[in-house]
Amino acid sequence: MIMRKPVAALLLASMAAAAFAQAPADTRRSGFDDMSPALQAIQMDDFANPAALWLAEGEAQWNTRTGSAGKSCADCHGTPATMRGVAARFPAFDTTLANVIDLDAKIDDCRTRRQGAASPPHESRARVALEAFVAHQSRGMPITSAAEPHLDASVAAGARIFRQRMGQIDLSCAQCHDERAGRHLAGTAIPQGHPTGYPVYRSEWQAVGTLQRRLRNCLSGVRAQPYAFGSPEMIALEAFLMRRAAGMKLETPGVRP
Ligand code: HEC
Ligand code: HEC
Repeated sequence: MIMRKPVAALLLASMAAAAFAQAPADTRRSGFDDMSPALQAIQMDDFANPAALWLAEGEAQWNTRTGSAGKSCADCHGTPATMRGVAARFPAFDTTLANVIDLDAKIDDCRTRRQGAASPPHESRARVALEAFVAHQSRGMPITSAAEPHLDASVAAGARIFRQRMGQIDLSCAQCHDERAGRHLAGTAIPQGHPTGYPVYRSEWQAVGTLQRRLRNCLSGVRAQPYAFGSPEMIALEAFLMRRAAGMKLETPGVRP
């Protein structure tokens, strides 16, 4: 009888240890983790990172009064630090627009509706620079993706697209980024496909581009018709990728080959 207590305690302790050991390890890797040390060093050096030029342009825009309202972002929002954490939780459901939108669309909403300024074309330097500058304020912060019915529906739609085979090559996003991540495709390592670094400076573009531009590259890579910028499919994919990467840290501006 005297043995019972310690045995039970030991048993409990070993069960707890087993449960702990069985807790799945987080095997998620940002594209950054798989880059060469040389490229990682460029991303982390604020002066060597080519995206620094875009950030400077974005900062200038933040402070410039423009549009029919003659207001700057700063006039209403104050310092850029007020944007800390914002990029980490977009796409999000916007109550005013009654829609799930991404950060680019939110900025454009303020630009058109509150500044009364024109909307620059998608992927234009001006548009990407401001998004990169705003997103950069959240660098190092963990991605959060709020449980919210409209956002959840968008995440679910994105998850369906992610698993759907597409294009002449007939491959799904998941077949490359879940099943073949870490393997090589025509000499290129397949990353897990996380949105952590966006907007990124990509050498192939010789420019900073958005996550949507990256996704369009993947879609044309499998010879599928790329979804239009700002389309519900694009927003759904972005919402799904952010939910899949929840807890990972934002790196904006990332550098990619
Ligand atoms: C045929 C395989 C393949 C398919 C299918 C594919 N991708 Fe990719 N994807 C890649 C490769 C390879 C890269 C990295 C390319 C490079 O670095 O040049 C990449 C990059 C990415 C990245 C950027 C990751 C980073 O760290 O910057 C994201 C996000 C992504 N893909 C998402 C998707 C989504 C969403 C789909 C489906 C719409 C998709 N991909 C379909 C192969 C694929
Ligand atoms: C006239 C005032 C005004 C101007 C100018 C303005 N904004 Fe806003 N912005 C707001 C208000 C008010 C909100 C909150 C309500 C909403 O989401 O529409 C907001 C919301 C935002 C959000 C979402 C924040 C969050 O926490 O979800 C972002 C991002 C943003 N603005 C960026 C910008 C940028 C970048 C500019 C400059 C291009 C800008 N805004 C110009 C008033 C303004």
